[in-house]
Amino acid sequence: MPQIVRNVSQLREIVAGWKADGDAVGVVPTMGALHDGHLSLVRAARGDCARVIVTIFVNPKQFNAPADLLKYPRTEEADAALLAPLGVDVVFAPPIEEVYPSGFATTVSVSGISDPLEGAHRPGHFDGVATVVAKLFGMTAADRAYFGQKDWQQLQVVQRLVADLNLAVKITGCETIREADGLAMSSRNAQLSTDARACAPALHAAMQRAAAAIRGGAPVPLVMKAARAEVLDAGFDEVEYIELRSALMLERVSQLDGPVRMLAAAMIGGVRLIDNIAV
Ligand code: PAJ
Repeated sequence: MPQIVRNVSQLREIVAGWKADGDAVGVVPTMGALHDGHLSLVRAARGDCARVIVTIFVNPKQFNAPADLLKYPRTEEADAALLAPLGVDVVFAPPIEEVYPSGFATTVSVSGISDPLEGAHRPGHFDGVATVVAKLFGMTAADRAYFGQKDWQQLQVVQRLVADLNLAVKITGCETIREADGLAMSSRNAQLSTDARACAPALHAAMQRAAAAIRGGAPVPLVMKAARAEVLDAGFDEVEYIELRSALMLERVSQLDGPVRMLAAAMIGGVRLIDNIAV
């Protein structure tokens, strides 16, 4: 089993020892309820770095709906068991007061890239993410950090944060891991009812069809409108957005001109699912 560490001073001591030996340190930040998507990041870290830390912290600052925070799954023992065979050195799972002690007063805010899409629908979300990620980099002093493309906008926010603050950590973005039917793996999938789970892959399917149509030269506004209707017809309750954007700056685009990403967020049976694909 990996060593479970709960406080920053102990973590720093362990990492200082590794660094004295010249070991590269990789970190995989997570909120737990681990699945194969998370484990793929751990494997990537394991492949690159002599030492691997997985952080498990359900960060209250990035939840804009209190109910969402309350129902977020917490499965630490099962998580540790999943990590054991992967050769993780340390699981850093601090209590809230270790991360946000009384008097905590700093917010890291990455403007621009945080504003559209998830930022528009979840006000404050990326401030919470950027703040905790900056802290996790500070606490772990990792040389490398691994994030999933599943949260594409988050990955771009983190890249911007690292560049702007000259943080000495190299970010790797790892491919989205999917269920056999195309549904992107997510800790939230466990909250889907049987019916909702059966409909959920329609989001990715609609996105793939739309991407193919756009690549084939069909007009983007029409295709995106049809994709939205298709997702609703399949049983989703609401499509918050389904859009074509430039891959790195996330600016609106209406043609294929440089790297382009299709991103979507939709609600089904009270569960909010997000996905994105290259076009
Ligand atoms: P969480 O949702 O637990 O995700 C942790 C990491 O796993 C993120 O980098 C996410 O993009 C990646 N991930 C999730 N599902 C994936 C999938 N199906 N395929 C590949 N990677 C996947 O994202 C967060 O936590 C938090 O915002 C965090 C960065 C930990 C800050 O609190």
